[in-house]
Amino acid sequence: MKPPVRSLLGTDQLSVPEIEAILKLARRMDPKRPPQLLRGKRVVLLFYEASTRTRTSFEFAAKALGATTTLITSTQSSIEKGESLIDTGWTVTSLGADAIVMRHPCSGAPYLLSRFIPVPIVNAGDGLHQHPSQALLDALTITNHKKRLKGLRVVIVGDIFHSRVARSNAILLSKCGAEVIFCGPPDLAPDVAESIASGVQVCHDLDFALLGADVVMSLRIQKERLAGKQISLDDYIARFQVTPQRMKLARPDAIVMHPGPIVRGLELANEVADGPQSCVHEQVANGVKTRMAILATVLKAAQ
Ligand code: CP
Repeated sequence: MKPPVRSLLGTDQLSVPEIEAILKLARRMDPKRPPQLLRGKRVVLLFYEASTRTRTSFEFAAKALGATTTLITSTQSSIEKGESLIDTGWTVTSLGADAIVMRHPCSGAPYLLSRFIPVPIVNAGDGLHQHPSQALLDALTITNHKKRLKGLRVVIVGDIFHSRVARSNAILLSKCGAEVIFCGPPDLAPDVAESIASGVQVCHDLDFALLGADVVMSLRIQKERLAGKQISLDDYIARFQVTPQRMKLARPDAIVMHPGPIVRGLELANEVADGPQSCVHEQVANGVKTRMAILATVLKAAQ
């Protein structure tokens, strides 16, 4: 009997031991001297939405492990001619894909495809829903500085409402014992946000939320998704921008994170984005190692 296909769709599907196993494997991955765990495998990067970090790091990760990759985007492919998601999935599987890394603007799209396609799907971001590889690389970054997640106070500030990064992180971090506080104006951090994961709190006062914070994770203000929201960007900057003054409220050894892309001068003051507490570049670098571990895990190339 064939073993079941194991996709990575969301952080909710991962147990704490599974999270720890991926992080342990990621720490062992050296992109300069990689183990050739995926030699002969074919990884399709199926991107229906723009990406720089996720797409590039999955490509580097797959190639570092010896796999071949091909990129399919929603322009310059038969998707433009109206081919359905499931037909595209079947096409690349019939062509010999061993795994599909997929980004899609619609929440749930990778879950749908995974029900039809007999190869692992790695969700590289679906609409407003999940971005599990980002949460895993964020956890790797945090544990590089803080050693453990349990007991940490993590403030996630910004556009929570539209953020798949916030959802994936809140689920993973609270599962691992961190205290997660969502912060933003009510339109972007509605009180229902606390239903995303048990124990998550919502706060509309950044100065209060930052008191004693170990990790400050700022999120992009998704201007393209703000239609219908009562948001003044000037008001947002005044109340929610992470500034050097505000960082004094957090613990002195607090780290600052941002999944990127940063809208400079909006979510983060430049002095914070480029300052000594910023881990933004480290997050990007950790993306390759983490995605190497994810690909090796879903393709069952690593024990
Ligand atoms: N953080 C993130 O997902 O960035 P990209 O959209 O550039 O992949």
